Parts: sequence; structure tokens; C-alpha cells
Amino acid sequence: MSLLLSEEDVREVLGADAVIEAVEEGFRAYGEGRVNMPPKSYLLLDDGDFRAMYGEIKGFLGHDVCGLKWVNVHPNNPSIGLPTVMAKILLNDPVTGVELADMDGSFITDMRTGAAGAVAVKYLAREDASNIAFMGAGRQATTQLECIRRVRNILRVRVYDLDESRAEEFAHHASELGVADSMACGLEEALEDADILVSLTPSRKPVVSADLIPDGLHINAFGADAQGKQELDPAILRRARIYIDDWEQASHSGEINVPLGEDYISKSDISGSLGGLVTGSVEGRVANDDVTLFDSTGLIVQDLVTAYTAYRLCKMRGLGVGKQFLSRVPGGMLEDVYKRF
Ligand SMILES: NC(=O)c1ccc[n+]([C@@H]2O[C@H](COP(=O)([O-])OP(=O)(O)OC[C@H]3O[C@@H](n4cnc5c(N)ncnc54)[C@H](O)[C@@H]3O)[C@@H](O)[C@H]2O)c1
Repeated sequence: MSLLLSEEDVREVLGADAVIEAVEEGFRAYGEGRVNMPPKSYLLLDDGDFRAMYGEIKGFLGHDVCGLKWVNVHPNNPSIGLPTVMAKILLNDPVTGVELADMDGSFITDMRTGAAGAVAVKYLAREDASNIAFMGAGRQATTQLECIRRVRNILRVRVYDLDESRAEEFAHHASELGVADSMACGLEEALEDADILVSLTPSRKPVVSADLIPDGLHINAFGADAQGKQELDPAILRRARIYIDDWEQASHSGEINVPLGEDYISKSDISGSLGGLVTGSVEGRVANDDVTLFDSTGLIVQDLVTAYTAYRLCKMRGLGVGKQFLSRVPGGMLEDVYKRF
């Protein structure tokens, strides 16, 4: 039967190390051309948007898998106690189209986003990077910190958020995780001697000015993931070695979308993709004082590898509720499909 998997089921089986490994494999598959992925499409609403993201990965854990994520972004939700981002994922067998799972995608989105941050840091930040600055202390910041700590020895956390109470809360959370030197502060102070900046706000105008960027910084630019969104002074993009997740998506909705639209930068200013870094076909940081930037818009392949990893683990542990969604098809025929996964 197809499995209905709740957030609780998914949380029980997904740890940061497993997701980072899966997401790195997802980027490798992308770099090797094993991903079939149309750019996400947007439903623009008065108060936010929905995105439909769908695609296929070939040869992940020995299987081909395809699926769909339906996910919203409603920036004002936190003021009424709801998360900004909520998602659902359907996983399917690409050979027959049979549904394997219908699962919560919210925790998967948080984890796969944090894991992409860790993969970017692994390939682009200096080996000795230990000071991290956060701009935006919302939901995604938590998994970024959790995952980045797996690939670099983080000793200092500085956090800036328009909402000071959120920044304080996040700094407290970081110290609870074991980063003793954690503090909420202004943006300028946060960036002083920073090795890594994680930007995670829904801003539509630059917040970080170029003069605040120290030599050698790696930037995870994750907040801009829809047309018109922008967090960084475009002069930072001129100075940085820029890596993207996917040209179609990043040029439409990533940090580069506004400066590209204004002809301030061009496609030739992009050094390559994270998939290319993982497969070794693209050169990464060259010098210690290089500023590097990963512009993430979020790829369905990150969701597919994370969701399929969770599905397999849940199946092994007997978690979830079986769903007989096709009553017209004899159960045995569907079971033959499920057995293959
Ligand atoms: N690239 C990806 O893969 C990916 C994945 C998920 C979410 N996102 C994007 O990341 C952003 C953050 O998502 P979230 O779920 O953490 O949202 P969230 O609402 O939980 O947190 C956003 C935080 O940013 C703060 N903020 C807003 N404007 C600011 C500004 N100008 N300066 C400083 N702080 C500011 C808010 O106070 C809030 O604490 C959103 O834009 C979302 O669309 C990207």
C-alpha cells in the first residue's frame, strides 16, 4: 500500500547526517545529468505564494524515483502563529506512476534546505571557518545551523533579525546546542570577522551592504527564492565567486535574479553549480581571501532524495499508515510495485 507519513513519522527517522549525505548525492546526480527537473512554477497570491515542484532522479539508492512537492511561502504567517512554509510531498514510481507515499514535506523542506547549506559550506567555505553569522533567525536558520555544524567546527554564532526576540531565542538555541559563544546583535557586529554568512530573510531589497563583507567570507544566500526577492547589495555579487543550484530557477528567483534583470551582472559572472562542485567539474574557492556565494532557490531533487530516504526508513520500521487509494486495482498488482522499493 501507499504510505501516509506524518511529520512525526518523518522526524523520527531523519537525522542531519543522513539528510546531508542524501542531498549531496542529489547534487551529484544533478551534476551528472541524472535529474529530470522542470523549473518550479509559482501560484502568486495576495499574501504569499504556492510552488509546484516536480521531477525525477535516476539511480538514487539503486532506484529511480519521481515526485511532486506542493509548498507555500506566506511571510506574514508567524504573526498569527503559523509557519511561513508548509509542504506536502507525493513520491511515485516513474515506471508505472503508482504512488509510493503521501507525506508531510514541511520538516523535509527544513532539513533538505539545511543540508544544502552544509553541502555548500563543505565545498566552498574555508576549512578553518568557525565563526558564523545569521541574518534572519526563522525556521530555516535552525536546520542550517544543525547541518553546517556537521561539516565545520562552529565555535561562534552571531545572529541578526529585525525581530530581536527571535534573534535572542536563536542565540539561546545555539548555545544549548553547544556553541557557547552565541549572541544576538546588529548586522555590522554579526559580520565582523565572520567566516560564513547565512542569509535567510524574505527581503525584497538589499539588507547587507558590500562594505560589511570581510575577506574570505562564504555566503549561503537562501532567502531569495522568488522573483523580486533580494537580500544582498549587488556589489557583493560582483566581488564574489557565485555558485547556483540551477540556472533556470536561480536566474528567475534566486539572489541573482534582480541584478541579472538590471544587467548589473551577467551569466558569465556565475562560476558554476553546486552539482558541478560535487562532481568536481567546477572549480571552487581558489584563495583564502576569496568571497564565495551559494545562491540557493531549492531544487526538487533535494526533496526527492530526502523524502525517499525517509520513506525507506519508515517502511523498514513499520511507521506510517497504509493507504489503499486505488480500489479498482487488485491489491496484489500494486504490492508488486511496492516490493520493488
Ligand atoms: N532556498 C531555499 O531552498 C529556501 C527554502 C526554504 C525557505 N526559503 C526562504 O528563506 C526565507 C526564510 O524562510 P523561513 O522559513 O526561515 O522564514 P521565517 O518567517 O521563519 O523567518 C524569516 C526571519 O527573517 C526575519 N526578517 C525579515 N526581514 C528581515 C530583514 N530585512 N532583516 C533581518 N531579518 C529579517 C524575520 O523577522 C524572521 O525571523 C524565506 O524567504 C523563504 O522563502 C528558501
